[in-house]
Amino acid sequence: MISREQVQEILQPIQDPETGESLIALQRIRDIVVKDSTVRLSVTYSNEEDRAQLDGQIRELLQAIGAQDIHIRMRPLVNTEQEDPNDDEKLTKGHAAGMQNNTLLSENSGVHFIAIASGKGGVGKSTVTVNLATALARQGKKVGLIDADIYGFSVPDMMGIEEGPNVTDEGVIIPVERFGVKVMSMGFFIRENSPVVWRGPMLGKMLRQFFEDVAWGDLDYMLLDLPPGTGDVALDVHQMIPQSREIIVTTPHATAAFVAARAGAMAIQTDHEILGVVENMSYYSCSHCGEKDYVFGRGGGGMLAETLHTELLGQLPLRAPDNLMADPDFSPSVYKSGTESANIYDEIAVRIASKCERTAS
Ligand SMILES: Nc1ncnc2c1ncn2[C@@H]1O[C@H](COP(=O)(O)OP(=O)(O)OP(=O)(O)O)[C@@H](O)[C@H]1O
Ligand SMILES: [Mg+2]
Repeated sequence: MISREQVQEILQPIQDPETGESLIALQRIRDIVVKDSTVRLSVTYSNEEDRAQLDGQIRELLQAIGAQDIHIRMRPLVNTEQEDPNDDEKLTKGHAAGMQNNTLLSENSGVHFIAIASGKGGVGKSTVTVNLATALARQGKKVGLIDADIYGFSVPDMMGIEEGPNVTDEGVIIPVERFGVKVMSMGFFIRENSPVVWRGPMLGKMLRQFFEDVAWGDLDYMLLDLPPGTGDVALDVHQMIPQSREIIVTTPHATAAFVAARAGAMAIQTDHEILGVVENMSYYSCSHCGEKDYVFGRGGGGMLAETLHTELLGQLPLRAPDNLMADPDFSPSVYKSGTESANIYDEIAVRIASKCERTAS
């Protein structure tokens, strides 16, 4: 089995044809994903003439460690990936510009904000957020998604986004678009794998910048993937967007639903309407006989909806998307249109849209 570290190590000798420096050290070989003997990576290199040579060198080295299926994408470096001493200045400039013409957060912006919350981690908030956003986009809605899990950002990887956003000279950030959804995440601004170690106030500031300095354009929906629990960021979001509605995600186990009720209680206390509950990993459908097996118990979602005086919006099966790494629109967590899971997300999206748009008019 090949590891990501092994790939990085074997590619160390690959040099930038212009400067002779290691492309790995320069972080120009990025987005490395390894699964069994399949390797996917991007090379951020603009010079067309050198690209073929680099491609050949990389393939040869990867084959030497047993890689059989190799996908190399050559793409230009976007400016947020470049080390630019003026970055901070640019962003500050943008902040000032954004403050003047920001309308996204104003109460009459017409954008429906939906925060996806849960009481605890790992229940599938991010999975639900990216799939609901994609389902709303499939219905022709203009959708934005903010990965508000500043420490534990996961949305870019889950959606298979490889490039970062561009920043204009005025410091305005252009969100990355994937499956018709405009995406912003802290993950775009952090160098590979470096941990985020900021204190509370910085988080709030970053989040505000996502609203104010990003050219979102015209939006119908803005989905926010919240960090788990009821901590600072969740509270910041509640305060920053008083008009935001909420979806609470839980697993079917009774204890999980009990913990998730805390996130619901927070929404109620801060006066945020709860659109409903999504129960994730509800059952496992046997691929041979279609029979449902309720591996994590039953009833948690319904019970939680009852406790919070809201509805159960849908129940998702336990199933990973069977997307292929070779696919140009590969994404580890987005279910393809027409699959059982995507159909359920489509139904939830219709329900949400009719709820939001009914109360808006
Ligand atoms: N219905 C599902 N079937 C199979 N795997 C799933 C399903 N939903 C989520 N997962 C997987 O479970 C893990 C946790 O999901 P996810 O990251 O969406 O949860 P989260 O609540 O956002 O977690 P965190 O609290 O860490 O942000 C992921 O590996 C995801 O791919
Ligand atoms: Mg998450």
